[in-house]
Amino acid sequence: MNYTYFNPTAIEFGTGKIKSIVNYIDKKLKVLVVYGGGSIKKNGVYDQVKIALDGYTWLEFSGIEPNPSYETLNKAVKIIKDEKIDFVLAVGGGSVIDGSKYLVAAALYDGDGWDFLDGSKQVEKALPLGAILTLPATGSESNTTAVISRVSTNEKRYFGSPLVYPKFAVLDPSVMSTLDDRQLANGLVDAFVHTCEQFLTYPNTSLLHDGYALTILKGLKTLAVDWKNRKELVWQENLMLLANQALNGFIGSGVSQDWATHMIGHELTAFYGLDHARSLAVVQPQLIRVMMEEKKEKFELMGREVFGVLHNKEIVLEALEYMYQSIGVTTNLNEYDIDDKVVENITSALKKHGMTNIGENGTVTLEKVAQILNMAM
Ligand code: NZQ
Ligand code: ZN
Repeated sequence: MNYTYFNPTAIEFGTGKIKSIVNYIDKKLKVLVVYGGGSIKKNGVYDQVKIALDGYTWLEFSGIEPNPSYETLNKAVKIIKDEKIDFVLAVGGGSVIDGSKYLVAAALYDGDGWDFLDGSKQVEKALPLGAILTLPATGSESNTTAVISRVSTNEKRYFGSPLVYPKFAVLDPSVMSTLDDRQLANGLVDAFVHTCEQFLTYPNTSLLHDGYALTILKGLKTLAVDWKNRKELVWQENLMLLANQALNGFIGSGVSQDWATHMIGHELTAFYGLDHARSLAVVQPQLIRVMMEEKKEKFELMGREVFGVLHNKEIVLEALEYMYQSIGVTTNLNEYDIDDKVVENITSALKKHGMTNIGENGTVTLEKVAQILNMAM
């Protein structure tokens, strides 16, 4: 193997950790607190942030929507530039943290921040960023990626840069008590699929990478089986840790990665508004069916280790679908408000975005995408 792994985000894990943010933000810095639609005002997180920031000069920007939009974010970019903000503190789920990654990069860039999303520019500098996570799912709190939507063009694209790694991430599981079943299930599914995107490819030689990925998958499967205890702190604590480790970069370092489910899922969200995790649950099982020949060794390993099924791959696939369905996440695309243009819309958008050969081997062609979507309906 041959790789560089670098993750500089300090993790503050546990109940009561929000106050530790003062150890990372110099009192001389002018802070912008960024959040979403107001959940942090209902669960006490906003109050804890306010107490911690006593003595700081700080402003706030709220209204970052799920699937954060370029249009909304640009309003915050203007505030950061006008008010000469030095530090951005993201308080929320993946959308708020991703949106804040865009802010810290766009704030120090003279051009249009979408340049990072369409790939025409790399991030060259960014303001420092910190994160207080309220919804474990994406791993955004300690990774380099941001996924941003552009409402006017129905686009959902991503960029990545080590410059947008949060300096710290507070993972306090007690803030999850206000999450509803939909968001808890979304978090579990997203983390499961993240792990599969980095594990379920072709065999590699690292026992550590495979073993770690399998531990994450087994942990998430255990939480699905134990769904009745989802309101317990221990259950939520485990989801928070597992989702973080699923996408902090380690299990993907030095191994092949897939991400085709995500690329197709992002287009489904852009056109039809499916929650991110829900878009993955309709695509992934069918993608595995279509690509089975290329994934069979790893899939058999997952079947054995995670689902306790030997030999019969279709039974493993059914167990995977059942796991999603058992926590209220459908695997049937027809259950969403789609239309008869769905295959055409998704394949043309992938083509426009240069994603005509995706997956670990570049063999998920637009024909295969059409096949996957037809099977998902
Ligand atoms: O906006 P507020 O009021 O805070 O409400 C949010 C939002 O409505 C709510 N919520 C968050 N914490 C809560 C809470 N409600 C009650 N109690 C709490 N403690 O949950 C709703 C969904 O939040 P959102 O941040 O959109 O969810 P998630 O964390 O699943 O993030 C999804 C976004 O992340 C992107 C997705 O594409 C999507 O845009 N992703 C980012 C990745 C990354 N950066 O690495 C990878 C992923 O694959 C994914 O693509
Ligand atoms: Zn995801």
